[in-house]
Amino acid sequence: MQGVDLPVDPAWLPDEAFRPIGTRRTLIRGSGPLVDTVHGEVAQACVRFGGSVSRDESPEPCDLVLELTGTDGGEAFTFQRGGGVTTVTASGGSGLLYGLFHVVRLGNAAFQGSSAPEEHRPASALRMLDHWDNVAVHPVMGQVERGYAGGSLFWADGRARGELLGRVRAYGRLLAACGINALAVNNVNVHEAEARLLTDRIGWVAEIADALRPYGIRTHLSVTFAAPMVLGGLPSADPLDAAVREWWAGASARVYEAIPDFGGFVVKADSEGQPGPFAYGRSHADGANMLAAALEPYGGTVHWRAFVYDHRQDWRDRTTDRARAAYDHFVPLDGQFAANAVLQVKHGPMDFQVREPVSPLIGAMPRTRLAVEVQATQEYTGQQRHVCWLGPMWSEVLRFRPDGVPVADLADAMVAVSNVGDDPFWTGHPLAQANLYTFGRLAWQPDADPGPILDEWIRLTFGSGPAAGLRAVLAGSWRTYEKYTAPLGVGWMVQPGHHYGPSVDGYEYSPWGTYHFADRDGIGVDRSVATGTGYAGQYAKAWAEVYESPDTCPDELLLFFHHVSYEHVLRSGKTVIQHIYDTHFEGMEEVEAAQRVWASLVDVVDAESHARVAERYEEQLRSAREWRDQVNSYFFRKSGVADAHGRRIH
Ligand code: GCU
Repeated sequence: MQGVDLPVDPAWLPDEAFRPIGTRRTLIRGSGPLVDTVHGEVAQACVRFGGSVSRDESPEPCDLVLELTGTDGGEAFTFQRGGGVTTVTASGGSGLLYGLFHVVRLGNAAFQGSSAPEEHRPASALRMLDHWDNVAVHPVMGQVERGYAGGSLFWADGRARGELLGRVRAYGRLLAACGINALAVNNVNVHEAEARLLTDRIGWVAEIADALRPYGIRTHLSVTFAAPMVLGGLPSADPLDAAVREWWAGASARVYEAIPDFGGFVVKADSEGQPGPFAYGRSHADGANMLAAALEPYGGTVHWRAFVYDHRQDWRDRTTDRARAAYDHFVPLDGQFAANAVLQVKHGPMDFQVREPVSPLIGAMPRTRLAVEVQATQEYTGQQRHVCWLGPMWSEVLRFRPDGVPVADLADAMVAVSNVGDDPFWTGHPLAQANLYTFGRLAWQPDADPGPILDEWIRLTFGSGPAAGLRAVLAGSWRTYEKYTAPLGVGWMVQPGHHYGPSVDGYEYSPWGTYHFADRDGIGVDRSVATGTGYAGQYAKAWAEVYESPDTCPDELLLFFHHVSYEHVLRSGKTVIQHIYDTHFEGMEEVEAAQRVWASLVDVVDAESHARVAERYEEQLRSAREWRDQVNSYFFRKSGVADAHGRRIH
């Protein structure tokens, strides 16, 4: 662990978690850089706790054997216990590293009883974090776009933060310990300072790659589609132009000279003002395949984002539905993408709202590789000032069956927008670490139950003392957040621009395609086939039928799919308006209750974490009250319907 410039929060890898290993005798067999990392981890634990570690041969019997049995670079490992010895075998260095962290997670249990060989293997080969970090401070978005954890770990004021490379390495260690193996180092909105990372500033990226490599993490780069023009001085970026293709081939070759195990490119094209193939009358498959061809000789992958929609819509235009856009743009291209191109699709059709249906694009392109993108950074879910554990939401997405097969099985890759910055707690709100950890574990095993993952995170991070209290404040926090914010799947209602705090009509007359259409009679967006935008028809038949009618549409998505009157009776038996009032009062009360639970943990949680979270609860409570009162007052004034329980509405 040389060069780690702690103190930063140890998160889910406190020294104590290594005690069961560090007090025992370990034998490590095999060689290679990742085996050296494993050895370094065990050796450090032994220095701390008094155990011993040998390489290849041991003079005495060992409690733990970690053995590399092959050279295939695989990520799977086998865990077993018999005859008083715990054994991890793997045919690749990454697998051995994951096996070590498995033992860490098990703690003493790894050294008790006996266990038949269990194979552990990640469901998908790509488990990635996208950092929306800017190299230069952006005038509106700052250093990290939608970042709520301080500055960037990688960049400050237009330069690489070489002084934080130790922390980058420690970050890689945390990521490996929850199963993440890829990371993109810069924002998908690529401004000029970031664009140059591809060319003359690739050395900066190489330094980051060097810091992450010992933990099995490959580095990726977001690139601008216009790079041949912006950086290469070409008159065009047309993907079918030979000079453009040649430019990308040359640029990729130079990237691989600097970073031989470079992962590939992430591209946001023809999206929110970013350049793309449409300008040349070319398709997104043409664009993606050009980059795929440049990366192909080196084993790289292009992550092509499907977040393509008209962000300059006229709010009066009721025929354009942003929710439809990704499906309409991409489904006709199924089968046209190269084998090393992955279409990266946000989990919902809009934009990381607290509640959305699963994107109909997922499952609709069987001949295209799919990455499902979620947002660990809490842009629309409290911005790491509110406690909002997103595990249950992501798990619902992964378990959803668009047409029989769960999303978990359809995804070739899982991607999350990172919630980490240079904050000593990594994530600003210490409890937001649970989102990062849960993402990694779900990316490894997408059909896992998130509840035990939360318990695992709590036990590793805080020990067993405060476990019940932590579970109480985190487990239901996403639903609590949903209760006091935008109701029944309608989304938005946030302050424009920064997206924090309530503004019911904040996006109502905007060009962004984000409307709730509330009037004195009712609210919601009619996306039915019969009378609305037809979006419901983008789903396979069974779901299209469920979503088509307000009678069968799940309550939590009702206003996403239908415009209904305030007196419409939900499947729950409540009217829409009473549901709005009740959930907003409840949501606020649940925050108050969680705050009390947190206060009661003062003696069982470390002082810094406790103080930081306590301070953020004050803000969460203030904000939840604001949400409650603005939303309830707005709908009371619109509808004129009184609260059945006579509570105070302003
Ligand atoms: C959201 C977010 C933007 C981001 C975009 C994206 O719209 O507000 O900041 O650039 O998503 O995913 O590309």
